[in-house]
Amino acid sequence: MSKPKVYATHQLFPEARQVLEAVCDVEYWANEDRPPREEVLRRVKDREGLVCLLTEKINDEFLRNAPKLRMAANVAVGYDNIDLDACTKRGVVASNTPGVLDETTADFAWTLLMAVARRLIEGEQLARSGNWKGWNLDQLCGADVWGKTLGIVGFGRIGRAMARRALGFQMKVIYTDAVKAPPEVSEPLKAEYRDMNALLAESDFISLHVPLLGATRGLFDAPKFYRMKPTAFLINTARGPVVDEAALVAALEAKKIAGAALDVFENEPFIHPGLKRPNVVLAPHLASASIETRTKMAVMAAQNITALFQGQSPPNMLNPAVLKKA
Ligand code: DGY
Repeated sequence: MSKPKVYATHQLFPEARQVLEAVCDVEYWANEDRPPREEVLRRVKDREGLVCLLTEKINDEFLRNAPKLRMAANVAVGYDNIDLDACTKRGVVASNTPGVLDETTADFAWTLLMAVARRLIEGEQLARSGNWKGWNLDQLCGADVWGKTLGIVGFGRIGRAMARRALGFQMKVIYTDAVKAPPEVSEPLKAEYRDMNALLAESDFISLHVPLLGATRGLFDAPKFYRMKPTAFLINTARGPVVDEAALVAALEAKKIAGAALDVFENEPFIHPGLKRPNVVLAPHLASASIETRTKMAVMAAQNITALFQGQSPPNMLNPAVLKKA
């Protein structure tokens, strides 16, 4: 019996290839650069399955070009690149990779927080420059992290992983979310609920952990920055469009906030030139990029897609209605 045909828009790690190739006939995009849109559209014409990255837009245009497609497995937890309604309408199952990247992402958000507070990048540049004249009392003094107040926006798995890290730094943890966490979650983390305005006014560090949805697009806009402390820092490892970048640049220029550390951007890979300043730490969307975690994400995507082709429900299905209809 012939195997279902799958297109993967990137080479996958050997562990994931093994899972996928046991069940599917897989063609991979072999270059390091992302494939051009036209190339992907051409390749998926006769494919029943797709393994894609968050850089591929799976929208109506895409689905029209892939009439045989039964499943799109995203190698990411965020799935704002996938039009779920369009998938459901066309009977295409979509899946993501939740759970396996929480701690790794929180590690990186913490890295950014520490780096911007303690001016690590400026220090590193000075150390490498050959211009360092030696220790000096007021050289590159940053802000303390320990004992400060961390405001977490979005208290899901990654937000909570941030709270766990903050405990070790004797920080006060406050959070805001659409729903309050139950006491069995918030109490061990010593995390207190605040409404957004209270969180903005109280926090020394604000770390974003919300998905990109209609309601969170542009969530951090000029009025929010104006409510923050002038000594506070913004950390974003969620999605770029959650922050209005022009408003962030204006707030930094006007010294309404002390700095920012960003792993994600409004129009990746473009980075607003106004963000390239000493009090902003920039990273190229790396938060989940440990070899262990990226391997787990790829394996999970492979398991999702092979489950469907073996007649099972993909474990991380985003639109289960598709299988109920069938
Ligand atoms: C995700 O999974 O959504 C991250 O942004 C990439 O790891």
